[in-house]
Amino acid sequence: MQVNEYALGFTSLNEEVDAQSLPITGELPAWLSGSLLRTAPTRYEVGERTYTHWFDGLAMLHAFSFEAGAVSYSNRFLHSRNFCEAEAKGRISRSEFMTDPCRTLFGRVMSVFFPKPTENGNVNVTVLGDQIVALTETPMPIRFDTRTLSSLGRLKYDRAVKGQISTAHPHHDGISGYSYVIHMKRRSVYRFFVDEGGHQRVLAELPVKEPSYLHSFGMSENYLILAEFPLRVHPLRLALSGKPFITNYRWHPELGTVFTVVNKKTGKVEARAKAPACFCFHHVNAFEVDGAVHVDLLAYPDPGIIDRLKLDPLRAGNSGDAVAALHRFSIPLGRGEQVSEITGQQLCPTSLELPRFDYGRRAGKPYRVLWGVGQGEGSGWWDTILRLDLTTFPAPVQQWQEAGCYPGEPVFVPRPGGTAEDDGILLSVVLNSNTGTSFLLVLDAVSLSEVARAAVPHHIPFGFHGNHFSNPTNPSQLQ
Ligand SMILES: [Fe+2]
Repeated sequence: MQVNEYALGFTSLNEEVDAQSLPITGELPAWLSGSLLRTAPTRYEVGERTYTHWFDGLAMLHAFSFEAGAVSYSNRFLHSRNFCEAEAKGRISRSEFMTDPCRTLFGRVMSVFFPKPTENGNVNVTVLGDQIVALTETPMPIRFDTRTLSSLGRLKYDRAVKGQISTAHPHHDGISGYSYVIHMKRRSVYRFFVDEGGHQRVLAELPVKEPSYLHSFGMSENYLILAEFPLRVHPLRLALSGKPFITNYRWHPELGTVFTVVNKKTGKVEARAKAPACFCFHHVNAFEVDGAVHVDLLAYPDPGIIDRLKLDPLRAGNSGDAVAALHRFSIPLGRGEQVSEITGQQLCPTSLELPRFDYGRRAGKPYRVLWGVGQGEGSGWWDTILRLDLTTFPAPVQQWQEAGCYPGEPVFVPRPGGTAEDDGILLSVVLNSNTGTSFLLVLDAVSLSEVARAAVPHHIPFGFHGNHFSNPTNPSQLQ
């Protein structure tokens, strides 16, 4: 058990703030404009009940807007149907990752025939098609006004893009967007789709008997890479068990980790590979060199991380151990349907999470630098920001750390006119347990030295992902 000075990060925030100017220590880069838009689980109690898991909390949007060396902060609950129904009824009305609403037997039967999927977009804010949306792991992105943070309803996919489960980590290559849905049925499929100018088209369908729990996927210049970890579910169990979503999945390490490489243009399966079992939330990047596609991801030995992120143990100070080892899986191309047996190569002895790199210029291509959060010796939670340089092996690590401070995802913002993939700054929302408030930290992306910080008047509960948008009202692609 740890001394839990970071429990505040798992405590609800109910206060909404509108365009509050933040006091700055240091100096923001004069070139920094646009907004950092993030989402996070932020309310954990509804009526008499508390959600079970960190991933379950009702989403709040957070915006840091930069102009002429100043920064203002706004936050607002995402008005998903999960949130609106909870407000109106005073109880949890929709299923989340590990929490189900209270149901009568009749209600349970009805929910099988008329499921009410979650649209609680508490995982990521990103571009889908030509719009900025808040996403969770269902195909129900919520649009919102990037200035007022008012919710604008669901973004509806083309009818052919049918499925109950999706990812909060779509890809974008500067031309098209890519994502998948998982259609659970008697003959289930993973369905990759491409978004061109706001219209979605099915690219490939991969049949699967027992779909895996997936959080993200890989994209190289020419391929999409599906990595199936052996945490799998029988669709019937998911439909009929009456138990919360993730508790229906079972760990089958004997099945290994199965990679399928799909051509981005034709939808054809170009390669398959099998590696020993691992579990992963986050792909980092993928690229093609020397007749292989190299897939970098953060691998846990098993899915124990899911239970470690339940709210009660986290609040009690049990160590989250929410860091994983960076592995590279190299899948040979040109062998058609033949399954290659491969193993991953660990690139760095230091574990990390919430990986970021220069996505706008390096997505799908060889890259050198990534950043993430780490958990230092003796800490129960993320307390460092890490920078890894992949040009030498094992990758050397630099870090930022401050006593009593717990940083979130470091979002890279490139300096306009710069060409190096680390020429820019990192933006991270940090909980300061000494003051009981949060601040926005601005670091130099090369040295990890502090450039500036902006104090938020209250705490911001720990969240997952967001992005910086140079022009949030007209997003063409991610930076
Ligand atoms: Fe994620």
